[in-house]
Amino acid sequence: MHAPFTFSPPGRLIDFMREAGEPGLINLAAGVPSTESLPAQQLSEAMARGYTADGAAMFAYHTPDGDPRLRELLAERLRKRGADVKGEQVLMVTGCQQGLQLMLDVLAQPGDIVACEVPVYYALLELIAARGCRILPVPVRGPESFDLDEVDTLLARWKPKCLFVCTTLSNPSGATIPEANRPKLVEICRRHGVRVVEDDIYAKLVEGGAPPPLRAFDDGSTVSFVSSFSKSVSPGLRVGVCVPGTIYERVAERKVQQDMHSSVVSEVTLRCFLEADAIEPHLASLRERNRTRRALAVAAIERTFPAGTKTWAQRGGYMVWAELPGLFDLVKARDLARKERVVFGAGTVFFPSPQDRSYLRLNTAKASEDELVRGLEILGGVLARVR
Ligand SMILES: Cc1ncc(COP(=O)(O)O)c(C=O)c1O
Repeated sequence: MHAPFTFSPPGRLIDFMREAGEPGLINLAAGVPSTESLPAQQLSEAMARGYTADGAAMFAYHTPDGDPRLRELLAERLRKRGADVKGEQVLMVTGCQQGLQLMLDVLAQPGDIVACEVPVYYALLELIAARGCRILPVPVRGPESFDLDEVDTLLARWKPKCLFVCTTLSNPSGATIPEANRPKLVEICRRHGVRVVEDDIYAKLVEGGAPPPLRAFDDGSTVSFVSSFSKSVSPGLRVGVCVPGTIYERVAERKVQQDMHSSVVSEVTLRCFLEADAIEPHLASLRERNRTRRALAVAAIERTFPAGTKTWAQRGGYMVWAELPGLFDLVKARDLARKERVVFGAGTVFFPSPQDRSYLRLNTAKASEDELVRGLEILGGVLARVR
């Protein structure tokens, strides 16, 4: 059985972010959407409307909890997904990243046990390590995420302070917890007194409608919700959203200590974008773009990667999680691929400890369609050499 342990993060967020902006690469590594797919025109119009409506207040200090009308709109969107949330329960933050960090700071002290899905968003690993917490890995067993009996056993045995999970189109695995398992997961956490921090950042990319968040099965005493518009509208706006639940005041207090409040310019812009009903048409075309590219990538992988490579089925998004048939030298693969100007996400960075097989996370959004296929063909050749 998995036991908690201290660890060093396997990569550095700052290096990945720097590489993401490097020109001249076929970049299948960074988990970022492409600049071409951003609704830049609609956002700039929304920003202008915001200034017309709000005037200089758009550039002043404002309330630490965030733009009240935006909080109301976001609560309404959550209510449509079945979560009984009011505007005053929504706290605006600077990206989902700040939401995760605030939750961790409030919920866990150095030395405490923190549970999280594994494989997991690497920056969360970095946060947990930086906080001096011990990690309890909870394995994602396949495209439908956790085995709930296993979660029950692990939480009962180790009583972690909290459990972090990206419930829909998780990064890197693309796993989505099925609707039927969501109330069950909340119930398990409630029974063991473990707060679950739900990261919902990719939910808007689901093809066929976003599932209800865990908060739909809770009153805020067990579930804290974090999300953002970075993967669906614009990462540069840095608009993040939290519904901390019963720990709201502690989270809000910590947030003010960090940065007073989040960007008013961004919040007003997003509010005007949502008020103009610009988001749904944008998301519809984004989902279509993602679907086409994932299909292209899966076909190229089947054609050119080592026989026995599996790609995990997923319900949307722009990342593909490929499971290789055994262990490959991914450090060597990274070096060889880089010489051919291709970069990819080595699966090792998403695990706090070594695994007995190799994975690749492949971002299909950034490169052009031709480059995507060419990059995967190059990678297929590289993998054959590092077996
Ligand atoms: C699962 C997950 N959570 C949080 C974040 C951070 O999001 P943001 O850019 O909104 O801070 C990311 C970004 O890649 C992510 O993949």
